[in-house]
Amino acid sequence: MERVGLGNYPTPFERMPRLEEELGGPKLFVKREDLTGVALGGNKVRQLDYILVEAKRRRADYVITTCGIQSNWSRQTVALAIKMGMKALLVLRTAQFKSKPKVYDGNILLDHIMGASIKVIKMRINEDPTDILEAEAEKLRRKGHNPLVLGPAASVSPLATASYADAMRETAEQADAAGVGLDGVVVAAGAGPTQGGLILGAKMLGLKTRVVGVNVGAYATESMKDVILKSAEGASRLFGSATTLSRNDIIIRDEFAGKDYGIPTRASIEAIRTVAQKEALILDPVYTSKTMVGLITMIKAGEFKKDENVCFVHTGGIPALFAYKRHFQPRHA
Ligand SMILES: Cc1ncc(COP(=O)(O)O)c(C=O)c1O
Repeated sequence: MERVGLGNYPTPFERMPRLEEELGGPKLFVKREDLTGVALGGNKVRQLDYILVEAKRRRADYVITTCGIQSNWSRQTVALAIKMGMKALLVLRTAQFKSKPKVYDGNILLDHIMGASIKVIKMRINEDPTDILEAEAEKLRRKGHNPLVLGPAASVSPLATASYADAMRETAEQADAAGVGLDGVVVAAGAGPTQGGLILGAKMLGLKTRVVGVNVGAYATESMKDVILKSAEGASRLFGSATTLSRNDIIIRDEFAGKDYGIPTRASIEAIRTVAQKEALILDPVYTSKTMVGLITMIKAGEFKKDENVCFVHTGGIPALFAYKRHFQPRHA
């Protein structure tokens, strides 16, 4: 499938021997999607690499997109837009933060440093800002620009799912080369297509791998399953494949999300420390830390057996950690 070609693939597939020893659990691997390259990487680089083909086709000179203040999607959109010679305009929603930021930090700071135009609006992450995006696009058109609008639907498009079906093939090849068959893959479920793509990819390859998503609290699980099914159906069509997903193929765990999307839990803060200290692997406060709590809890509950091989997908998001620094200060600070 056509892609812009801006990501660094294959991303590394590594062992986590110290974490494995600490948990006394299955053989643990990590797929380093935080290392997709381009402005500190993450899973959205892989998705946007497919989605932004449309910008090339339309000869767009601006990309307009939207998400939360600490949005990895937005940062990676700005980064890829720059690499494609375009400008970016972001409509960022306050989401889990109660007010507009007085000091820029984490992702929004990087958006600003990269020169994106930023408009912050008070809105939850699951509300629809389409009208505002369209109004911004119209303003740019009147100035003679040719903007491509990536609304909330873009991040759940079949292309986003297709990119992760390809990532599953990449991971399976790496596991093969390491002489292991993957019994389990554990990944964050934000809006769904990353997990959906991995499930579709595994099914297209005829693998028995259990792809478990950890709901990080942005959307209700059942509506996320609807999104995954629809996006995977489109992705399958793009591949010209007859493989389809059924609701039963989608395993999403709800119990690690905590109070809300973007609000860390005591366990997720602890998971960030544990994995940093055991593996020098830095997790993010919104997605991968809650996902790691899921993995650790499932291992402790015996859901993955000692002789199994399990891969944690690190989907990135590390810049947001700096916006959550108050959770990690030494006692004397
Ligand atoms: C770091 C990180 N991990 C995971 C996800 C979730 O991806 P998806 O929306 O495909 O479920 C996102 C995107 O929102 C993200 O930024």
